[in-house]
Amino acid sequence: MAQAQLANPEAIGSPYARIDGPVKVSGAARYTADFNLPGMVYGMPVCATIAHGRVVSINTARAQSMPGVRVVLHHGNRPPLYRAAGGSIDERRPPLDDDQVRYYGQYVAFVVADTYEQAQAAANAVEVTYDAQSPDVSPPAEEDTPNTESTRGDAASAFAQAPVRIDAVYSTPVETHNSIELHACVAHYDDDTLTLYDATQGVVNQRDVIAQMLGMGIENVRVISHYLGSGFGGKLWPWPHSLLAAVAARMLGLPVKVVISRAMTFHSAGHRPYTRQHLRLGATQDGRLVSIQHHYLSQASIRDDYREGCGEPTPRMYSTPNLSVCWGMPRRHVGAPTSMRGPGAVPGMYALESAMDELAWALKMDPIELRLKNEPDHDEGKNLPFSSRHLHECLEQGAERFGWHRRQAEVGAMRQGDEVLGWGMAACTWPAMRMPSEVRVTLHADGTARILCATQDIGTGTYTILAQLLSAETGIPLDRIEVGLGDTRLPPGPVSGGSAATASIVPAALSATRKAVRAAIKLATKKDAPYAGKSADDLVMRDGRLALKHDQNDPGVPVTEILTASGVVSVAGEGQADTGADAKKKYSIATYGAHFVEVAWHAATARLRVKRVVTVIDGGRILNPRTGRNQIEGAIIMGIGMAMLEQTHYDHRSGAPVNSNLADYLVATHADAPQIDVSFLDYPDVVWNEVGARGIGEIGLAGFAAAVMNAVYHATGVRVRELPVKIEDLIGAAVQA
Ligand code: MOS
Repeated sequence: MAQAQLANPEAIGSPYARIDGPVKVSGAARYTADFNLPGMVYGMPVCATIAHGRVVSINTARAQSMPGVRVVLHHGNRPPLYRAAGGSIDERRPPLDDDQVRYYGQYVAFVVADTYEQAQAAANAVEVTYDAQSPDVSPPAEEDTPNTESTRGDAASAFAQAPVRIDAVYSTPVETHNSIELHACVAHYDDDTLTLYDATQGVVNQRDVIAQMLGMGIENVRVISHYLGSGFGGKLWPWPHSLLAAVAARMLGLPVKVVISRAMTFHSAGHRPYTRQHLRLGATQDGRLVSIQHHYLSQASIRDDYREGCGEPTPRMYSTPNLSVCWGMPRRHVGAPTSMRGPGAVPGMYALESAMDELAWALKMDPIELRLKNEPDHDEGKNLPFSSRHLHECLEQGAERFGWHRRQAEVGAMRQGDEVLGWGMAACTWPAMRMPSEVRVTLHADGTARILCATQDIGTGTYTILAQLLSAETGIPLDRIEVGLGDTRLPPGPVSGGSAATASIVPAALSATRKAVRAAIKLATKKDAPYAGKSADDLVMRDGRLALKHDQNDPGVPVTEILTASGVVSVAGEGQADTGADAKKKYSIATYGAHFVEVAWHAATARLRVKRVVTVIDGGRILNPRTGRNQIEGAIIMGIGMAMLEQTHYDHRSGAPVNSNLADYLVATHADAPQIDVSFLDYPDVVWNEVGARGIGEIGLAGFAAAVMNAVYHATGVRVRELPVKIEDLIGAAVQA
């Protein structure tokens, strides 16, 4: 694919402020729970208080007699729901389907009442008796990894014969997505059409799956998600509360609002599953990898098959003739896990990059040098060339910006006041993905333009990026462009996930814009029009005007005049884009980067802080460095949470996630944020799309926890192989300030 010949190239790569910023900061943006419809009633789930067993009886008499209560649904009286045969959903069992309970908090009834408080009070009054069995929520330790994901050579023999060996087990805990916006759905059934205002990262999938589960046609279901208070993957696919809102709205003929509590988020709306990863690295004395074994467990729920693909990046990351990646999926009595920012690669790169650091220490080699020494010249897992990989430059530029050459290599050697400093680094990667997309563009006689797509902006900048793409082909300024997103009535667009939305919509948006411009040019070249007699190929749109392509002195004619003179109010173009499967057959396409971290360990108070971060990302062309940097900074702060704070704890007797609130489940806040220096290499990946954009939403979290733990080791001599690091891991450290 050739590099872009954009009519107004300055619209790409400039740090525009978000065009949706003003409506957000002024409070005008309406999030899902902000929709209040006439006659609306409120739904409240009743959550199981056991994690394993069955419901013996449900007594709803008291609840039903309470003020305002409209209905109490349970498995005995719920209207039919079906399993979805297509589309994505991680908890496939429809809610209230039978009397079985497989995780603590599973919805066993659903109360609808006139107010939120009435629904809550009545939900508390539903009496459920259970036949309880003891749940198993213990972290799996048995190494049962029968499924092979990637293999080459003979990793076990090569490891056995390797002169230098690292053999270590790393684990990552259950983490729960804590978007500040709670999961919510407002369902409204009218004239055979169900409208769902739903806090989702994917309106099209939400519509397709919910329509199947309700037994409705997709033309009769509309899903709207204009603004999202973030999702991190927790809002990618439908969860039971949305289905219950839809069922109740259809049954009662009333709008139904459901906002689930923070506690419910911890059991019935997904989590990143527990992983246990056994890494074995074999190397020569001079630091060449001879084998990598990455054998991992991804904990699943009893019924569903979500797998955290920890080994996804391993085969392409480093050069080695012998490799084996395999996995197992032990089942526990927990809710269905789901994708959480950087699913797979984020826990996977914690383990791999920690093991690489351990190898560097064993070899007494600089960890950057170790990585440079094992840099592959092609993807040895897929046996394909890289489309664009500049990891070595990320490592070198990051080292330079961080001042790595000043690092004193010995453990505990660097001090500042009464603190010990630790410097660590790690590499990162995330695969490029694209999803089918359609975009519609209209240019209007009043000089404005619209660009429409049923993808959504989950806080990442999609509104702004789409306006930039339209501007890049027309020169129409951003403040004259209206962007419509997050509504299934618009041309179908991708989920906002997998760091794939931008790369997916680039080709569709440019193609739609070009077709709309072409339609305007056709009007301009008609008989008696300003460019009568010219070929359409001779014209271009720049600065909002149609002008001769090869004559920079032609001032051109405003599109508004052309349209007005033709009696036309607007011209339109539609563009499509595919999954990029052809490019992926020929190339290994992924984003790369490197993190450098300084931690400070204050032994007297057992305080560990991340003080300073330098991150360099090779993400292809960055369409907007301001929204782009914001993605990486956010991921880094989330990475501090992953390294030091986040962990969902289960009570082993009841199976309940016990720290299911923001006081006990700690996420990193501004107070935890270090000094962050993010920079991007600028290598457009034109194999992937013509502007060369790949994807940057998740890469910033990959490898970050490893960089922190590698810095912790440098400061304290303690190797943390179980996230998050705890005070008790470090208080016995030999290094004391
Ligand atoms: Mo991201 S986990 O694909 O929302």
